[in-house]
Amino acid sequence: MNSLDTTSNARMIAGRATASEHTAKIAVPVLVAGATGLVGSTIVRLLEERNFPVKQLIPAASERSAGSTVLFRGKAIPVTTLEQALKTEPGIALFSAGGAVSKTWIPLFVEKGWQVVDNSSYWRMDEHVPLVVPEINGHLLQPSHQSQPSHQSHPSQQLHPSHQSQPSQQSQPSHQSQPSCPLQPSHQSQPSCQLQPSHQSQPSCPLQPSHQSQPSCPLQPSHRLVANPNCSTIQMVMALAPLHNAFGLQRVVATTYQSVSGSGRKGEKQLNRERAQARQTQLQAKHTQQIQPLHKHAPAPQPQYEYQSENAQTDTAAQTSRQPSSYHANLSSEQISFHLQCRQPSSYHADPASPYHCPIDLNVIPQIGDFLEDGYSEEEHKMIDETKKIFNDSSIGVSATTVRVPVFGAHCVSLNVQLARPFTLEEVHRLLSSFPGLVLTDAPEGPTQLYGPGLRPGLVPGEEPAMKYATPLTAKGTDAIYVSRVRRDPSIENGLELWTVADNIRKGAALNAVQIAEHLLTLKGSK
Ligand SMILES: NC(=O)c1ccc[n+]([C@@H]2O[C@H](COP(=O)([O-])OP(=O)(O)OC[C@H]3O[C@@H](n4cnc5c(N)ncnc54)[C@H](OP(=O)(O)O)[C@@H]3O)[C@@H](O)[C@H]2O)c1
Repeated sequence: MNSLDTTSNARMIAGRATASEHTAKIAVPVLVAGATGLVGSTIVRLLEERNFPVKQLIPAASERSAGSTVLFRGKAIPVTTLEQALKTEPGIALFSAGGAVSKTWIPLFVEKGWQVVDNSSYWRMDEHVPLVVPEINGHLLQPSHQSQPSHQSHPSQQLHPSHQSQPSQQSQPSHQSQPSCPLQPSHQSQPSCQLQPSHQSQPSCPLQPSHQSQPSCPLQPSHRLVANPNCSTIQMVMALAPLHNAFGLQRVVATTYQSVSGSGRKGEKQLNRERAQARQTQLQAKHTQQIQPLHKHAPAPQPQYEYQSENAQTDTAAQTSRQPSSYHANLSSEQISFHLQCRQPSSYHADPASPYHCPIDLNVIPQIGDFLEDGYSEEEHKMIDETKKIFNDSSIGVSATTVRVPVFGAHCVSLNVQLARPFTLEEVHRLLSSFPGLVLTDAPEGPTQLYGPGLRPGLVPGEEPAMKYATPLTAKGTDAIYVSRVRRDPSIENGLELWTVADNIRKGAALNAVQIAEHLLTLKGSK
């Protein structure tokens, strides 16, 4: 396969629209809320890459980003605030600025006539907000599905939006009196839940635009708000969808290995900071060695914490962890307490800038989000509840353990699946390899679709070795969900094991949101 074929394949993977397809669509104003963040900046890049018909790009962020610009189609566009953006002509708004911002601002944008795609978890389990992965349930965006609550979904009480933290002061709109929504049946009919005060006091209706003087919006009034699922959920349901369609899903047990980019810019910064700290420690140790010969009779100290390669680190750390006293020999007192606290996550407060409960470098943390009453974490509940909502089937058994690992880009999800009906591995291979957006890397005949160009440093597109399995380095920067290690689980009836890898920032967030926006625009074009 030549590089041209590879490129067109990579485009096909994510259903990328061509320029000619978009010319039929009306260009609309596009707001990117959180444009300076990992997801938002990737949305801006994708809008350009996919030739989305943008009439005007409005990048918005917090007041911290005042004065900064975002590069789009060769132009530096100033970053604005949501307050300013609300005053502009309505179009499509892609929100990636956290749940608190979505809670406060999305109702106001909907009220003004914007169609909103939300990447935060705040609205996902609202029964009147469709939760969409276009390849699976894109039909929910059709006008016939307008505001139809799912009959099957069971939003978890503990996951309710009211658990989100309150927006910071600067994210509050200046006008205090919220517009009231005359069409609020959805919120009035919320199941009663002691943990849902926010719905009782919802200022406006996120779904139905007010009948009062709507500003002209070039888009359809249906689905003013669409939610984007959690990144690990998207990756998991994409691999499960063709199997669910063919054989029915009975039970899924998911274990994740999630990159630090899942925590946004502060996650990446934290891993970089800890690695820099480790490098500093190594330099100090080397320096100590160099001056050692001056003391001829003293034994030369051995550095206990080498930072040469991932393997060297791991081996050294593994060895030294058996000798804790010598492990700290070359660390500063600050670093010693840092590592000691690592053994007691609850007491780790050494780095207030860290989004994690203990050090992430050289570590694996089995906690993403707060723990809830049932012992599952928030991230685990997202995977459980959102999967049922997306498949519109609350009978599917889902369990998850979500884990943060010191990897910069792309999440891995290991899946143990029990299907409702018998299958052959050939059928599974065929289904996985023909589902849009999936790349099956260990099909007997070789990878089903090759990867996009320049994805793995040092490898020439078209000359890549056939891979039996994908890793985060395979997936980072690409649009596909990679599936491999497909094998039967003989310990249960109709059991199957899968390994999935995907870039959580692209298909797990930004790409899925842009695909939803493309669907919304297509509906407008076909009207
Ligand atoms: N990272 C992922 O893998 C992933 C996947 C799925 C969904 N999401 C969701 O996407 C959202 C963003 O995640 P991220 O990873 O991109 O985080 P991030 O890198 O930390 O970026 C956060 C963005 O939100 C902006 N922001 C913060 N407070 C704001 C406010 N008061 N008003 C306006 N903008 C504000 C920030 O602006 P400043 O730069 O000015 O602070 C920044 O642009 C979150 O809701 C997250 O849950 C993330």
